Amino acid sequence: MTLRIPFNRPCFEGKEQEYIAQAIANGHISGDGEFTRKCHALLEQQLGVPKVLLTTSCTHALEMSALLLDIRPGDEVVVPSFTFVSTINAFVLRGAKPVFIDIRADTLNLDETQLERTIGPRTRGVVVVHYAGVGCEMDAILKIARQQNIAVIEDNAHGLFGKYKGRYLGTFGSMATQSFHETKNFTCGEGGALLINDPALIERAEILREKGTDRSRFFRGQTDKYTWIDVGSSYLPSDLLAAFLYAQLEAREQIQTKRKRIWEYYREHLHDWAAAHNTLLPFVPPYCEQPYHMFYLVLPSLQLRQTLITHLKARGILSVFHYLPLHLSPMGQKFGGNRGDCPVTEDISDRLLRLPFYNSLGEDHLARVVDAIQQFHG
Ligand SMILES: Cc1ncc(COP(=O)(O)O)c(C=O)c1O
Repeated sequence: MTLRIPFNRPCFEGKEQEYIAQAIANGHISGDGEFTRKCHALLEQQLGVPKVLLTTSCTHALEMSALLLDIRPGDEVVVPSFTFVSTINAFVLRGAKPVFIDIRADTLNLDETQLERTIGPRTRGVVVVHYAGVGCEMDAILKIARQQNIAVIEDNAHGLFGKYKGRYLGTFGSMATQSFHETKNFTCGEGGALLINDPALIERAEILREKGTDRSRFFRGQTDKYTWIDVGSSYLPSDLLAAFLYAQLEAREQIQTKRKRIWEYYREHLHDWAAAHNTLLPFVPPYCEQPYHMFYLVLPSLQLRQTLITHLKARGILSVFHYLPLHLSPMGQKFGGNRGDCPVTEDISDRLLRLPFYNSLGEDHLARVVDAIQQFHG
């Protein structure tokens, strides 16, 4: 039987079980226990962010950011069409209308040259997505946002520890969101974080995350009882998950070293094939440090992309496409999305193929993926 190479596989770095056992021994497995605090401190210190709050997912961190911006029905939020549904759904849930913007053909990030003309009197914010953890053009985006007085939120689901011009992704917007889903570089199965760069938002963020109560202040001894003071929900993960995540975050250098090797193996071994087959490989501008989240090919056509998926599948290798254009989804069309609105997104979405990528992907398997691609001539 052909050995299968999955697209993703959750990887364990060694201390996950030990820390989970420790959380159990601590007798505190609900939210905000020892390991949640450790994850917060590690991320705050490494990134230099005033406040980090673990959440149950990146989706929930995005929902918190929409609540913190006080998004109301009729508000508009600019978002790339080439992203995951949660990037905008979190804002639509509060009544916002999405305004879809196209992407650049090189980094596949929001096209900042189109940003100004998407902003109108009802625009409250722009959500930027650092695709594959390669930074968006933050200098230009922040300048426009400042001039137009709109908020910048970074959906940094792919980009933890990536940098733009020497500065960590997630530190540019008033808020940023992370994902610790199984497919991400660092995981606890399902999880996320909200990074808060604007100190004025910190106190309310703690309240929203704790069901609308001031329980976080109570636990710090800043009040003698806690009560309902705002809207909110339950966005904090169990300390069991935080224990798992802490083991992964502690091993961040070893994880990133493995992922860098995988990314570079693909690039080195597919470079010539790609050039000969009119196929693009990921582009990383020299001023961006990427966190090696994914490796993709952009094939010359939809038909070739589909044929390559089938070719790889026949050899036991799973590759996947990424992001159907949101403006063409049934929900996107309800908001007025039409074919032709975001031509680069429509084109890239048809042609992009993600290759297997996980920490334990060894050279023998990498060689098999590369061999299979090199045998493909369309
Ligand atoms: C850009 C982006 N944002 C948000 C999410 C949602 O993350 P989560 O599954 O942690 O809610 C994803 C999921 O992969 C994503 O790719």
